Amino acid sequence: MTGPVLAVDQGTSGTKALVVCPERGVIGTGSAPVRPRYLPGGLVEVDPAELYDSVVAAGRAALAEADTPVAAVGLANQGETVLAWDPVTGEPFTDAIVWQDRRAEGLCGELSSRARDLQQWTGLPLDPYFAAPKMAWIRRHLTGAGTVTTSDAWLVHRLTGAFVTDTATAGRTGLLDLDSTAWSAPALDVYGLSGERLPRVVDADTRVGTTTAFGPPLPLTGLLVDQQAALLAQSVTEPGTAKCTYGTGAFLLAQTGPLPRRSDSGLVSCVAWRLAGRTSYCLDGQVYTAASAVRWLTDLGVLTGAEDLDAVGGSVPDSGGVTFVPALAGLAAPWWRGDVRGSLHGLGLDTSGGHLVRALCEGIAAQVVELADAVAGDLGTPLTSLRVDGGLTRSALLMQTQADLLQLPVEVSALPDATALGVGAVARLGLDPGLAVHEAVPEWKPSVVYEPSIGVAEAGERLDRFRAAVKALLDDAQ
Ligand code: G3P
Repeated sequence: MTGPVLAVDQGTSGTKALVVCPERGVIGTGSAPVRPRYLPGGLVEVDPAELYDSVVAAGRAALAEADTPVAAVGLANQGETVLAWDPVTGEPFTDAIVWQDRRAEGLCGELSSRARDLQQWTGLPLDPYFAAPKMAWIRRHLTGAGTVTTSDAWLVHRLTGAFVTDTATAGRTGLLDLDSTAWSAPALDVYGLSGERLPRVVDADTRVGTTTAFGPPLPLTGLLVDQQAALLAQSVTEPGTAKCTYGTGAFLLAQTGPLPRRSDSGLVSCVAWRLAGRTSYCLDGQVYTAASAVRWLTDLGVLTGAEDLDAVGGSVPDSGGVTFVPALAGLAAPWWRGDVRGSLHGLGLDTSGGHLVRALCEGIAAQVVELADAVAGDLGTPLTSLRVDGGLTRSALLMQTQADLLQLPVEVSALPDATALGVGAVARLGLDPGLAVHEAVPEWKPSVVYEPSIGVAEAGERLDRFRAAVKALLDDAQ
């Protein structure tokens, strides 16, 4: 028995911390907001100090509520958010450039002739979403100063002095060789990052150092990128199973087992985790704007917040002929068209806020269907259900729409905060190498299962409308 651990999920719009006890479950929670700045031209930045302070504040709040000693800390991170910093003092040289930021679009355009090679080496398409293009952009604008890394490496350095990143986070850069899980010299060369001082790539369950940021000295024994941490918490450990997390964006990941499976369908092929020297791989697809599209409708005054989705959407029986492609920050897998922006079709004088909300739910859910279809194409077998977590799963409207369009049961996790729970499990594995993965991960239990309430034909018609709207968007942007 390993005792309680502090599990911290440093996310895009906030940090959540849990104290997780093996016998009693979650016994303390804390959270602290983070406020990224959404700037013209698709720029998204955040003050790194805000990231670190939110980790400390959320962690301390969870510990205070639990009021019991913990044995270790685990830290999940956003993945593709990067910054430049001084490896001696730990001082940032730049703001953190958030994963949603599109400033490296031009740089990706310049490297487009190498896209196929990069994808073959690293499993990742060439897109500004990933860390490497943003790191290269920083390097072009800040020659020679410090080191440029993903935000986890900086946070871990601040917490413990160690200079490391876990294999799955490194796999989100576009600089990690998918087969060897070591930094890829040819990919570094293409991005002009060959001379870069890079963190050591470690297993997720490595004891990387000790932190006093939360009070008493605590070993940091778990590091994992957030989507993969949620994958683990949802017990998606068997090849062919999948989960989707509905956060700022929506992220569908399918487990593919111990060997990398390169996608023929436009998905990302990457490391799920490396635990005790054993690597698991996954396929990954992204909807860039989910909760951030809800926030957009909120800013326009259509909603008062995400908790309002069902009431406003429930005021009308359907989307009233409105089709919304909520590509407010571009389209990711399987299209990889970060340059396009959202579209609304079929607006009339009778269009209400309820119609817009329903059209948004359909737009998010239809993108997730495209990702599930791509996974099925790559694996050669359809999914049989989808496990889901994240804040937007509280919307029955969105989840029912998802089950309807997917024509599969959608199983909502009974455990909120899957990401923190996943990295908490990893921290326990780091603390007790004798523990098996299934012993560390909380038992999978859905709180509710949404079954499809419409037939295949109607789902097909609604998907066809969405696909036609995407096609029109892509044709317009040619
Ligand atoms: O790839 C970015 C994604 O993992 C961020 O997740 O929860 O911070 O929106 P979240």
